[in-house]
Amino acid sequence: MTSKVMPISRFERVGAHSHIKGLGVRDGKALPVADGMVGQIEAREAAAIVVDMIRRGKMAGRGILLVGPPGSGKTALASAIAKELGEDVPFIAISASEVYSTELKKSEFIMQALRKAIGVRIREIRKIYEGMVTELEIKTGKSPYNPYQQVPVGAKIRLKTKLEEKTFNVDEAVAMELIGKGVQVGDVIWIDAETGRITRLGRCEEVPSEYKYDIEVSQKVPLPRGPISTEKEFIHTITLHQLDVSYARSTSSSIFSLLFGGREDKEIPPEERQRVDRMVKEWVDEGRAEIIPGVLFIDDVHMLDLESFAYLGRAMESELAPIIVLATNRGMAKIRGTDIEAPHGVPLDLLDRLLIIKMRPYTEDEVKEILKVRAKEEGVKLSDDALEVLTKIGVESSLRYAVQLLAPALEIAKYQGRDVVTSEDVKRACEMFIDVKKSVSYLKKYEEMFLK
Ligand SMILES: Nc1ncnc2c1ncn2[C@@H]1O[C@H](COP(=O)(O)OP(=O)(O)OP(=O)(O)O)[C@@H](O)[C@H]1O
Ligand SMILES: [Mg+2]
Repeated sequence: MTSKVMPISRFERVGAHSHIKGLGVRDGKALPVADGMVGQIEAREAAAIVVDMIRRGKMAGRGILLVGPPGSGKTALASAIAKELGEDVPFIAISASEVYSTELKKSEFIMQALRKAIGVRIREIRKIYEGMVTELEIKTGKSPYNPYQQVPVGAKIRLKTKLEEKTFNVDEAVAMELIGKGVQVGDVIWIDAETGRITRLGRCEEVPSEYKYDIEVSQKVPLPRGPISTEKEFIHTITLHQLDVSYARSTSSSIFSLLFGGREDKEIPPEERQRVDRMVKEWVDEGRAEIIPGVLFIDDVHMLDLESFAYLGRAMESELAPIIVLATNRGMAKIRGTDIEAPHGVPLDLLDRLLIIKMRPYTEDEVKEILKVRAKEEGVKLSDDALEVLTKIGVESSLRYAVQLLAPALEIAKYQGRDVVTSEDVKRACEMFIDVKKSVSYLKKYEEMFLK
């Protein structure tokens, strides 16, 4: 008997909001469909103002609450805000229920989340060796643990600038770095004089012709001008939490030794945090660092309890606080763990400090547009009637349910040897994977039969 094993295809995971690339707002006006966002014009324009305020440092210590029915795009809007802010501004997203699911105390979890959302941009002058690599020879020797294996034990490297050329013998650690970074003859690199860390800047414009490739994708950089041994300014952005973690571990106060490694997920004593705060303020005063308040997004915030809300409110008032963005789909609700009714399940004193953005329920046309964007993102081709049926499901059941049917409907179409999803495929998917209303009424029927 012969059997054929199919190769495993690449594991593909399409995040629920991966189609969202930004707010789709230009000059303060939201375009009906742009950057993957559809409709919600007022909410998107409000969010754009928030993004501008964050960028100009006018939002620190304040908060936003996104309210709207399930599936109206609150989480989507928050991820659009994150995209707009860019890589350099920390954006931490948690779901309120995570507060209860870690081994940390609730207050510690919230504190860590807050401090992950504050960036510190540090400038530091380092002594380095800079140049184009003109010779590179990795020396290998027997591994001390396995004599049959050759491992790098050092390297000889020759660097060149316009001014001079020098050969260096480097140790095993630097040799490993050279291999790890894929350094080749013709690259321009920096070697940190103290730590041996290598930064590969790109291919040199003046690569000797025998080392030139016909097709090169690396960035081209000029041959450095000055001496090989020089000083450079490095800029790192790290978070207060990373500093807390490193500081709790390290005894040194040199910035560089604080940048690597760390003891994650342990409780950090408050005195250590205070020390970090003092240290960061000193760096800021000396002009070596800059604080970048980022965003902490807490989804389904009605899941927080009174204690956590109190803690959050207090933290928002502290000097180093990020911008808080909260989202909920609850109207009047009990604050978790109490009998107190409050709007959105959020205590009034916290609500007072928030700007509220409301999301509208979608029209049929908007549901259709969102489904189109999502189908494209997931690589699902829909026939016109399939899109009609899905839209109807989106309106009658829920948008999220309709979005979730896309993937199984495509599988069903594939079984039939088609790559375009028809309305039949959607209906079939709908029968196989039922929505919440149907699953509840199904079980109710059986409860009535059995529990009498
Ligand atoms: N305006 C929109 N433009 C594009 N995609 C959207 C929009 N609104 C929602 N979506 C998409 O629809 C799905 C459901 O939206 P989302 O998860 O943001 O809803 P929600 O308001 O956070 O709901 P819940 O209250 O249940 O958390 C997601 O895949 C989301 O990316
Ligand atoms: Mg959500």
